[in-house]
Amino acid sequence: MNQQDFAYLADVLRRRSGLMLTEKKTHLVESRLVPVMRRFGFRDVGSLLKELHYGHEALVQAVIEAMTTNDSSFFRDRKTFEEFRDIVLPTLMVDRAESKHLRIWCAACAAGQEPYSVAMILEDFKLLAKGWTITLIATDINSQMITRAQEGLYSQFEVQRGLPIRRLVGNFMQEGTNWRISDSLRRMVTFRTFNLLDSFGWLPDLDVIFCRNVLMYFDHKTRLSVFDRIGDVLAQDGALLVGPAELVSGLTIGYAPSEGAPGLYYKTEPVPLHRRAAGQRLDRIPA
Ligand SMILES: C[S@@+](CC[C@H](N)C(=O)[O-])C[C@H]1O[C@@H](n2cnc3c(N)ncnc32)[C@H](O)[C@@H]1O
Repeated sequence: MNQQDFAYLADVLRRRSGLMLTEKKTHLVESRLVPVMRRFGFRDVGSLLKELHYGHEALVQAVIEAMTTNDSSFFRDRKTFEEFRDIVLPTLMVDRAESKHLRIWCAACAAGQEPYSVAMILEDFKLLAKGWTITLIATDINSQMITRAQEGLYSQFEVQRGLPIRRLVGNFMQEGTNWRISDSLRRMVTFRTFNLLDSFGWLPDLDVIFCRNVLMYFDHKTRLSVFDRIGDVLAQDGALLVGPAELVSGLTIGYAPSEGAPGLYYKTEPVPLHRRAAGQRLDRIPA
């Protein structure tokens, strides 16, 4: 891939998905594009990139999907789930005792390990049995990941990463060498393909948002835009849980870290309109 092709691809990716490419990754990029090249019948990566100029939507989506890093595991960054279990959930159970409705969003769910980990904790609290309504939405830009998440089928290697044996035995059924998540957990999660650069308008008001290990792939402007729009859909007393490399402090206006709970943020007072008008709100990244 020549420099011009690389620059063009990097630009498409940044504008369409927020993902940043650095030239150091040329070899990795090429190897990730090979399956797309074969699927769409191109003879080489150069021809694929030429076609990309025409903006053929299925091809753009396939290229974006090929470039995403979908690594995840159950209860990844265990501390986050302890904070959810020990701080966030007990507080919300008091604050929402009247409505008995919890609304949670996993904003980049990969193959579903994160929302299913959340669902397992919710099940521990027996919220459904106690008459609570749970809205648990899980989204990702990668439609193949969403299909996998909906299937809820994981390899032996995937369930060995982070899943305690009692949860494996209690929540999964063995199918050959794989493990399928229980129907009760699967029914708790609504999966949908969704790009974090697009409008959050379809989302309900949310009590908890997990946005972990995704914004680190974006540039500063895009992170700012996502945090800003998260603020629009997160309830004033809602909780935001981010990954260790997501860098909220110093980056965003409108959130405060929770003391002693790394990665857990709460909204501060609403951002005054005049500060937003000063250019601190971005709906989409300029082309
Ligand atoms: C490393 S995984 C993180 C999964 C999970 N949140 C975790 O912490 O284990 C990053 C995910 O972000 C998704 N992603 C990348 N860009 C995105 C975008 N613009 N909108 C939505 N999801 C995106 C990728 O497809 C990938 O599945």
